[in-house]
Amino acid sequence: MVKITIKDNQGQSINTFDAHQDESLGTQAQDQGIPIPFSCGVGACRTCVGRVHKGKEYLEEELIGPKHITTEDNEVLTCICGLKSDIPEEAEIEMEIENL
Ligand code: FES
Repeated sequence: MVKITIKDNQGQSINTFDAHQDESLGTQAQDQGIPIPFSCGVGACRTCVGRVHKGKEYLEEELIGPKHITTEDNEVLTCICGLKSDIPEEAEIEMEIENL
């Protein structure tokens, strides 16, 4: 299973969970009880932005839909970002949520 570690904006680890490829990472994190804030939910506002510390190469930035704003190279919008279809099972991803 692909492990995702979510940290708050102080760098404190909030939770680690096994992710799947069917939903955005933000939605999966919320399902785990991690209160990642969403506003638009469609990649247009930055409320849900995460800075990826590890594993960016495994992420599909526009899994759920197109991104409507620009972000830095190390950032993803967790409401629309998910896992690439060819991600190795042992992959590890770590990200810090800006508004958490
Ligand atoms: S909630 Fe608006 S970009 Fe993700």
